Amino acid sequence: MPNTVVIFGASGDLTSRKLIPALYLLHQKGRLPKETRVVGVSRTPFTHEAWRAELAGTTAKFCGKEFDTKSWEAFAGNIFYHRGDIDDAASFQSLKTFLETEVENNAPASRLYYLSTSPTLYEMAIGQLGAAGMAEESKGLRRIIIEKPFGTNLATAKSLNQATHKVFNEKQVYRIDHYLGKETVQNLLVLRFANSIFEPIWNRNYIDHVQITVAEEVEVGSRGGYYDKAGVLRDMFQNHLLQLLMVTAMEAPARYQADFIRDEKVKVLRSIRAMHGAEFAQHTFRGQYEGYRQAKDVPPESNTATFAALRLHVDNWRWNRVPFYLRSGKAMSCRTSQIVIQFKEPPQLLFADGPRTTNIDANKLVIQIQPAEGIQIHFQTKVPDAGMRLRTTDLNFSFQREYTGALPDAYQRLLLDALNGDASLFARSDEVELAWGIIDPILAAWESPAAPPLEFYPVGNWGPEQSNEWMESQKRAWFDVCPVLH
Ligand code: BG6
Repeated sequence: MPNTVVIFGASGDLTSRKLIPALYLLHQKGRLPKETRVVGVSRTPFTHEAWRAELAGTTAKFCGKEFDTKSWEAFAGNIFYHRGDIDDAASFQSLKTFLETEVENNAPASRLYYLSTSPTLYEMAIGQLGAAGMAEESKGLRRIIIEKPFGTNLATAKSLNQATHKVFNEKQVYRIDHYLGKETVQNLLVLRFANSIFEPIWNRNYIDHVQITVAEEVEVGSRGGYYDKAGVLRDMFQNHLLQLLMVTAMEAPARYQADFIRDEKVKVLRSIRAMHGAEFAQHTFRGQYEGYRQAKDVPPESNTATFAALRLHVDNWRWNRVPFYLRSGKAMSCRTSQIVIQFKEPPQLLFADGPRTTNIDANKLVIQIQPAEGIQIHFQTKVPDAGMRLRTTDLNFSFQREYTGALPDAYQRLLLDALNGDASLFARSDEVELAWGIIDPILAAWESPAAPPLEFYPVGNWGPEQSNEWMESQKRAWFDVCPVLH
């Protein structure tokens, strides 16, 4: 059956930067289901030709070397534009008629709606799709992708879930978190569940702690208005960092199927230990980079955190007493997302000169999510001809060295999965609500006398110096290593 991808918020940045390039590259690779049409909807007036011309330029820019005019032209013939207002019921009626008569030629077709508008319009857009009868499936499947942020707290996420379920059933809904579309995040599932050597040591008996870092070099730039209301916990932790935590900590699903996978992920969130009173100041850390308050649309007295670190516990048999440190920030030393599995010291330190204060020389498994995608195992070796001096060295797997071709952008995989009806890499309603249930109390504590101090850090640092002291006080150290890019 033919497919129609309907993008609401078509004139926005995400559409030109990610969605159209991803759909185009899928077409170029021959992966897009046959007869897939793309319809953009937004308030800006465009003719089909004008929108295609604009997208030709932006897609060429964002695809770089991978762009080629001939395949673009074949793809662009299936792109359409329809002017419409989310708050106007008549727009949805005219969109419906346009889709049925001009795009789908009155024949059955499956549709994938993509909400890429301002998040404040999601509920309204869903309501309008329902009122216009555009969610019912008599003439083909109807699916909807909802971009992040999914709510701004537990209450708004619940309300959005309720509004969504009035119109779509859960099987039709795809809540996107682009981190799950990253090849290296999926590779973590493969590392864990397609190899037998890691499973026996993937637990409290061998692992001292886990560090999950998503460091960004960029500052807030022109997004100050949005960012100041969100802050790093809403922007990065509620979604991306908790997703990485779930994939690292989950049990093996019974089968590789959406609900089996999501059941296991949800169990991780249910196992996160709640914090109380003084624990918020002990187990959470917040910072702001110097100069943030001068950024565009940021109030000069803003206390919004641009850096945070959390110490979480997953209270189950596997992870008893193994802290998970989650850390993310803007304006940091470099762009790197990595998961460090820090193993315990050997039980007897035969070759140590004296007692160590930290276990940083013990084995590590470093999973590099981006930009130097790969995996390293750090272990001790003997320095030749130097008595029993030891040095840490590593076994290094790099995607770039091992495979040819650029790693595809996350949106390619996610759009294709949604078109094929595979929700394995999308968040379920209970998952997003549980994630907010972890973040909300921390946000509330940060507004209360239990708040940890807001520490400042210079641009280009690994966050505030005090976050290192915080780790040291726990006899641990951050793995502050910028990836080597070839
Ligand atoms: C987005 C956040 O979800 O993720 C941004 O809103 C952040 O603030 C971005 O920069 C990071 O994504 P990536 O794929 O570049 O790591």
